[in-house]
Amino acid sequence: MAAESQKITVRPNGPYIVRGGIPLVRKTEVMSEHGEPLTWRKESVLSTESTYRLCRCGQSKTKPFCDGTHTLVDFDGFETADPGPIADRETIFRGQQIVVRDDHSLCTHSGFCGNRITNIWKMLKDPDDSVVRAQIMAMVEKCPSGTLSFALEADGEVVEPDLPIEIAVIPDGPLWISGGIPVERRDGQPLETRNRMTLCRCGASSNKPFCDGTHKEVGFTDGQIVTLQLGATSEG
Ligand code: FES
Repeated sequence: MAAESQKITVRPNGPYIVRGGIPLVRKTEVMSEHGEPLTWRKESVLSTESTYRLCRCGQSKTKPFCDGTHTLVDFDGFETADPGPIADRETIFRGQQIVVRDDHSLCTHSGFCGNRITNIWKMLKDPDDSVVRAQIMAMVEKCPSGTLSFALEADGEVVEPDLPIEIAVIPDGPLWISGGIPVERRDGQPLETRNRMTLCRCGASSNKPFCDGTHKEVGFTDGQIVTLQLGATSEG
């Protein structure tokens, strides 16, 4: 678990403040020749101070870091995500000796839950086959947002992958927070601390501070400023 000093704070209509020397890395998906995401690869470690600010509006010229641009544009960073526990939103899918839990409000559409042949929900209907079960578990564990998780039995404890305490910048996508780092809302209330979650850094999610996959629709890229049609007053 993260140290007491390690946490992320969401600023009103502003950046994420990261405290406690949390490592910042770049991670990218390893894709198959068919365009299917297979696994994750760490590309590099970014140099930071112990405390640093990460862009949340999507328009910084020094991404992933904040350069203050949110104060020049009408960035509406209002958090709309349900602050309640994930367990209250999950749909439960029962398979053979495995139960998959799904909070679709957190989905970033990273695509690890399927391939060109099958997907997790189809596989859950398969007979009692440990090879299929292992594939389901591997797919679920690569879901960056934690939309999907699994247990071995109904009402059993969720089995989580062993992930590092770090923040990973996903190319043209969200920030992948792993290792149980606490995240505090703009009003000082903590979000549920989880092993993995994905935070929006394009500014366009409808489920802020979480990513909801909208970065793909708005064409967010690390190297290009996205013009967003957002209309609230920036508070700094
Ligand atoms: S990074 Fe903003 S919706 Fe995904």
